[in-house]
This record gives sequence, C-alpha cells and structure tokens, in this order.
Amino acid sequence: MIAPRKILNNFAPYIAGRPIEEIKRIYKLKKVIKLASNENPYPPPEEVVNTIKGLASGINRYPDSTGFAVKTAIAKFTGVKTANIIIGSGTDEIIELLGKTYLEEKDRIIVSEHAFIRYEMAARLMNAGIKRVKMIKMRHDLKEMARAASSKDKFLFVANPNNPTGTYNSKKEIDEMFAALENKKSSVVSVFDEAYIDFTDARDYVSALDYFKKGKNIIVLRTMSKIYALAGLRFGFAVAPEEICEAIERIRPPFNTTLISQAAAITALKNRKYVKKIASKILSEKKKMSAALKERGISFVPSQTNFLLIKTGKGRDVFRELLSNGIIVRAMDEYGLPEYIRVTVGTPSENRFFLSILKKCLGGKK
Ligand SMILES: Cc1ncc(COP(=O)(O)O)c(C=O)c1O
Repeated sequence: MIAPRKILNNFAPYIAGRPIEEIKRIYKLKKVIKLASNENPYPPPEEVVNTIKGLASGINRYPDSTGFAVKTAIAKFTGVKTANIIIGSGTDEIIELLGKTYLEEKDRIIVSEHAFIRYEMAARLMNAGIKRVKMIKMRHDLKEMARAASSKDKFLFVANPNNPTGTYNSKKEIDEMFAALENKKSSVVSVFDEAYIDFTDARDYVSALDYFKKGKNIIVLRTMSKIYALAGLRFGFAVAPEEICEAIERIRPPFNTTLISQAAAITALKNRKYVKKIASKILSEKKKMSAALKERGISFVPSQTNFLLIKTGKGRDVFRELLSNGIIVRAMDEYGLPEYIRVTVGTPSENRFFLSILKKCLGGKK
C-alpha cells in the first residue's frame, strides 16, 4: 500500500460536533438537540431560503470561479476593494490555504494555548512550528504574543472573540499589540478571526477591519456559518492585503465556493435586521443561562459569543452523559480544558432542556 506523508502519522482528524441523526441512531433516541458547533439555532431568513430554492435548477453549471458578484457584495459590506477579498468553503478552508501558501518547515505561527484548533492544524499540515502563548484568565495575552514574534513567525492568530473560551480582547490591547509589533519591525501577519463578532456587546470591542483600513499588517476572517445561519452551505471570506490575496489565488481550488453559497451569502449580507434580531435573542438566552448556572453554583467563563465554556469537572464524562440524554455538546480535552464542556446557546426550549439534564448529570449537587 502507499503511505501517507510522514507528517500525517501523528495527525488526528478535527473532531467535529456529532450529527443529530447519528446520536438518535446510536442511543435510540427520538429527541436529540445539538448545542455543539456554535451554529445559529434558527433558520436563515426567508429571502435567503428563496434565493437557494430559486437557483436549484441551475446547478448543472459551475459557479463563477472569481466570485465577482459575491466579492462585490462583500466589498460593499466591509468597505474594502474586491482585490482585498478571498472567498472559501468556510473560513476553515481559508485558514488551511494560508498555511499551504505561506508555511514551510522553517516557519512558525503564534497562537494562544486555548485558541481555535484549526490554526495549529494548518501549521502542522505544513510541518511548520507552533509557538503557544499562555492565556491570562482564559484571554489571549496579546502583549506576550507580540513579544514572542520572531523572524520565523509568519502568522499570529487571534480569534476575537475566541473559541472555545468565549473571551475577547479590547481595542487598547490590540493597539498595544500592533505598537509592540511595529516597534520591533516585525513582519508577522496578524490574522484576526471574527467568527463571533455579531454576538459581541462589549463597549471596548472593535473589529480588526478598522486596523486593516489603517494599513496594519493584518488579515481579517469572517464566516457566514454563525449568525448568518449558513453553516451547512460553507461560505467564509477574508480581507487581506492584495499581495496575499494574489498568492492564495494561485492555489485556491477554482470552485471552492458553490453557486448557491455565493448567492446565499449575497442575500444574507444585506439583511442587518435579521442579524440584529438573532443577536438579541441569543444575548437574552445567554443571560438566562448564565443566571441559571450561577444560581446552581456552576462556574463558566463570561462570554462575548453564542456559547458558554462551563466548568463541570471531568468534562468528557459530562459530555457522554449529556449525549446519552440526547444533548450534543463539546468535550474540551482536545483544547487542553478537560474540566470543561462548551455549550452553544440554543433556542429557549433547547436551553431549558440542557439546564435540566445538566443538573441531573451533576448529581443534583449543584
Ligand atoms: C473561531 C472560528 N473560526 C473559524 C471557524 C470555522 O468556521 P467556518 O464554518 O467558516 O469554516 C469556527 C467554527 O467554529 C470558529 O469558531
């Protein structure tokens, strides 16, 4: 038999949230809810569904490989030029493309110890090094990340807010990080991943797009999988300096986004009312969940996202017990947080169901 690349010998696949149908089948359950992948629990707005339906009979044709229309819509939405936009099958693919385009064995990336795991995977795939910087109270230590930057480092990844901690970094911290990087004339490119931006309400949160527009050495990632409710379609984009976009274009698979995902993204980006409505529903549910957890003496990390990192002790056991009761969450051992589970804020009834079963799982002690 042929062997895969040596580097893949120690490569574990990404563990995705388990699908509802699989858990129904395995546990012989009728009711299963998924609070595992930080999706929007509500369907996309009607006009997005209609856009998708309207295109169904046209899928005998390939999509526009250049993504002209969707890039024009994204340019309008973000206020940058179309030449500064990269599109991908989710931001996941863009992260991997960054690695494949730029990383070699001699290179390194900088991440936080509990950062979104796909950054590390992109580096490992290319056999590049990884500098993990300790967090402070579950928050990125941007000062230390900037201090760590050396000539080997190509990317410094910052999910803001972060998955799986749900925490964020403020404008002041980001300003200081860029000042420190510029002071040492670092060539590292900061990659700000704003998957959860629309769930933030902290006054001192700012989008990294502002820094891009000020000419900082930065890439900004945005996904349509969270508040826009298009996780199943796979569409994400990045705003990046032109020369980075051009380099990535050399290896981007020509049809990495679909005819339907491009059109759905265009329609979805226009509907700010929907985004605001969902953000407010999730925020209100998150407040209720937080209050219920507090009341039961269960600790969790304050979150600027649509999920909560909850300290349960032996997270893997609690994850399994919740699963056998029809609730899919995420165990956090792969993130180095074995005492925690990560739970997406769902609909009011899903959240009530989760809280009641969690209480049972924790043995009524809480
Ligand atoms: C921080 C972060 N970045 C990127 C992604 C991937 O999103 P996409 O669906 O666009 O690939 C996720 C998904 O959970 C995420 O949490």
